Amino acid sequence: MILAKGNRLLVGDSAASDLARQFGTPVYVYDEETIRSKVRLLLQNISYKPLKILYAAKANTNLSIMKIIREEGKELVGIDAVSPGEIESALKAGFRPEQVMFTSTSVTDDEMRFAIEKKILVNCDSLSQLERYGRLNPGSRVCVRINPDVGAGHHGHVITGGPESKFGIWADDVENALAVAARHNLEVVGIHEHIGSGILETDKFIIAMNVLLSIVAKHKPQLQHLEFVDFGGGIGVPYRPDNAQIDFQEFGASVSNLFGGFCSSFGRQLTMIIEPGRFLVAESGVLLCTVNTIKQTPKHKFVGVDSGFNHLIRPMAYGSYHPIVVVDNCEGNTGEKKEKVAVCGNICESGDVFTRNEDGIADRELPPIKEGDVLAILVAGAYGFSMASNYNARPRPPEVMVNAGKAVLIRKREDLAHVIYGM
Ligand code: LLP
Repeated sequence: MILAKGNRLLVGDSAASDLARQFGTPVYVYDEETIRSKVRLLLQNISYKPLKILYAAKANTNLSIMKIIREEGKELVGIDAVSPGEIESALKAGFRPEQVMFTSTSVTDDEMRFAIEKKILVNCDSLSQLERYGRLNPGSRVCVRINPDVGAGHHGHVITGGPESKFGIWADDVENALAVAARHNLEVVGIHEHIGSGILETDKFIIAMNVLLSIVAKHKPQLQHLEFVDFGGGIGVPYRPDNAQIDFQEFGASVSNLFGGFCSSFGRQLTMIIEPGRFLVAESGVLLCTVNTIKQTPKHKFVGVDSGFNHLIRPMAYGSYHPIVVVDNCEGNTGEKKEKVAVCGNICESGDVFTRNEDGIADRELPPIKEGDVLAILVAGAYGFSMASNYNARPRPPEVMVNAGKAVLIRKREDLAHVIYGM
């Protein structure tokens, strides 16, 4: 668990300030039990069987995290991989090839050859890819990604359904896609959609499920090899204090009833797949950083830390809100007055501010902060390290996994050798 106890932030029973001292800052710290509990939450609440969960590894590809998910998910969890690197990571983490699906976009023949060689099912994102896949691997099994013309997500950049999105085969082209598949003797074993990321209103997810299922029903005669329908990921997590958690009992019951009912009329118990990324790991992770500078301008009190958007780009990329706490003074001491501050990083761009929205800096009320304090940026387990870069020639932070008070380094801190390149 990650929680404040007596004003101190604890990550898996370890004090965040102790972890900062032990491993240095900046550092990403994850709580193993939180990851396991998220896997269980999904498996327990979706009663439909057969059910498979593909962890969207792009959220966090650390092998230790993938291994924990594999262990907790038993045979029910596999990997949604978007690149040869993610395929290789999945296999290294102990997933078998049949537990992995390769879902990407603007895919090259070489990437498909890589997947074919590794015996990974390919999910085709376009008629072009399906045609090329058919030539490369005729007579094999394939999945087809459809754009259901329904999109959702926390920001325009991550909405992946609808006419603005580059993803999937448009519903009007499904007939063509199935003809291409037939021409190459491909067995269409899966139909897939993914409408977007960070969805908190689950009704959009259900609407898209209905659309996809009506497409499947319409093309039933050509789908005699169909084994599964994959409804993608996108399950949101509460970042803001006023975000409600999804009601998983209700969500699990809705998707189970909907898919169960569909399978009865379809005449076959197909496998239901969902592909959560963020949901499994976001709330397990924090980014710890140390305050080194405090300065005032006429407009803002800036609190400068030893990290930046090179380690967590979400505020800069989407105006995303991440809770921030002072690790040894989470709630503030009684009598202390909170202050409005802008927490900023060490990257040489003015957008490098963790407390922002889409329009710019949004000051945050925090207990008084002094230089040397350690801050924790919360809900950073998904799309934190995986989107980190070496911008400004800065090495990337280490990653640490904590379980019941025991902290283990799961990725070393990079050093200058990682950032000096060229010839
Ligand atoms: N399946 C497919 C095909 C996807 O493209 C994605 C995410 C997922 C599943 C998992 O989505 P999730 O459950 O994590 O929401 N960098 C952005 C998120 C980009 C997601 C891209 N695709 C962010 O930090 O919000």
